[in-house]
Amino acid sequence: MTLATAKRTDTSLGPDDSTTGPGTPGTPLPRLTVIGTGYLGATHAICMAVLGYEVLGVDVDPDKIERLGSGSVPFFEPGLPELLAKALDSGRLRFTTDFAEAGAFGDVHFICVGTPQQQGSDAADLRYVDSAVSELARHLYRRTLVVGKSTVPVGTATRLTELVQRLAPAGTDVELAWNPEFLREGYAVDDTLHPDRLVFGTESAWAEERLRAAFAPVIARDTPVVVTDLKTAELVKVAANSFLATKISYINAMAEICEATGADVTGLAEALSYDDRIGGRFLKPGLGFGGGCLPKDIRAFSHRAEELGVGQAVAFLREVDAINKRRRARTVDLVRELVGGDLSGARVTALGAAFKPNSDDIRDAPALDVARTLQQAGASVTVVDPAATENARRAFPELTYGPDAMTAATGADVVVLLTEWTQFREIDPHAMGAVVTHRRIVDGRHALDPAQWRAAGWEYRALGRP
Ligand code: UDX
Repeated sequence: MTLATAKRTDTSLGPDDSTTGPGTPGTPLPRLTVIGTGYLGATHAICMAVLGYEVLGVDVDPDKIERLGSGSVPFFEPGLPELLAKALDSGRLRFTTDFAEAGAFGDVHFICVGTPQQQGSDAADLRYVDSAVSELARHLYRRTLVVGKSTVPVGTATRLTELVQRLAPAGTDVELAWNPEFLREGYAVDDTLHPDRLVFGTESAWAEERLRAAFAPVIARDTPVVVTDLKTAELVKVAANSFLATKISYINAMAEICEATGADVTGLAEALSYDDRIGGRFLKPGLGFGGGCLPKDIRAFSHRAEELGVGQAVAFLREVDAINKRRRARTVDLVRELVGGDLSGARVTALGAAFKPNSDDIRDAPALDVARTLQQAGASVTVVDPAATENARRAFPELTYGPDAMTAATGADVVVLLTEWTQFREIDPHAMGAVVTHRRIVDGRHALDPAQWRAAGWEYRALGRP
């Protein structure tokens, strides 16, 4: 493995309107396709066009392609609509459902389709990756690089290399590389334009050169580049997400100990965070992690390790998952305790549906899990979320949805904060106290000031705090 940090003086990230590659005079910029235009792919396509590349976004969903092509981002991501408009205006970004067009157009093809959890198993469902790669391969008639960005079980890239070279008319002239993506929803634009690092899993100097050309403006900003083999590149992503999930579950396990002893997990976390070796990021206790990545990635990693006969090495990830799930159950218990032990007929206001703030993503959202469990236990639950209401309503029509926090809280017996949106953090406890039936709040995200809420007459409860 080589760790190389490009040192160039040009730190501009502005669009490059020339026909030559940044930093490589005379070399034409590779033309990029991005297959799969969800959170990851749409962001990648848009940002690459803004950076100066000719980009073709490809998806099997004609509705998504139509919306993106007409300037509308089909999900909530701060900053992305403005960049989409800029990219479309530049004439460098187009969208299509036609794989033949993609094959003819692209020099470097990025595979950005989803790898959700399989139904009834912890394994990753690779059907979208397999189908995207197969569809594309049939239209590759010249030397090209196919780059996987999706999160996959280690060993997938080797299998896909065989698949793509078998199906492509260009045969072994088509190479495969792996370039895992670490973007966070809510910060997707910044994470794409200014990543912490780039990881290139490659099998030849040519593939590395193509990837460097495809990321030249990003590399020019002194972004560290780790060049490694395919398997290591695949593993980097699941190892990173497993570490982050473990850190969150570690502090949430400490919260369980605090609950049993009367200690305060927020003070504990703060004290730990001043140790540089530990650090405060991803050490925020509360309702735990959700979303389209962390939960399914740790399960798929466990599953893959067990397949490889090394399940014991990551057996702790099962516990990480279990701790995370217990936080949801414990939040429900706190609400039940506040209403005197019986949830039936209790009116509960759930602040938040998205798996985290600044996102409309409800995949494995702790907030909705809690809201549904409360409802199933007999409570009448009204959910409010600044961005995720429509997605939540479609998935869980049995819940009631409110237009805003104050309306939703009117007449409530308990308010429970489940996603720490800024507008919820800033709620005035006096104003909300005037509309509820009982001033009782469960702060599932340690997002509120207990002293302020208690001073306004609220009974305040939070996970891991006395
Ligand atoms: C994550 C990884 O961070 C990213 O690198 C990867 O590419 C995809 O998965 P994302 O799913 O967007 O990104 O969310 P992230 O910001 O990592 O948060 C994940 C979950 O952990 C959220 O539900 C969040 O509320 C929770 N969390 C995070 C905590 O409970 N405590 C923390 O301290 C941090």
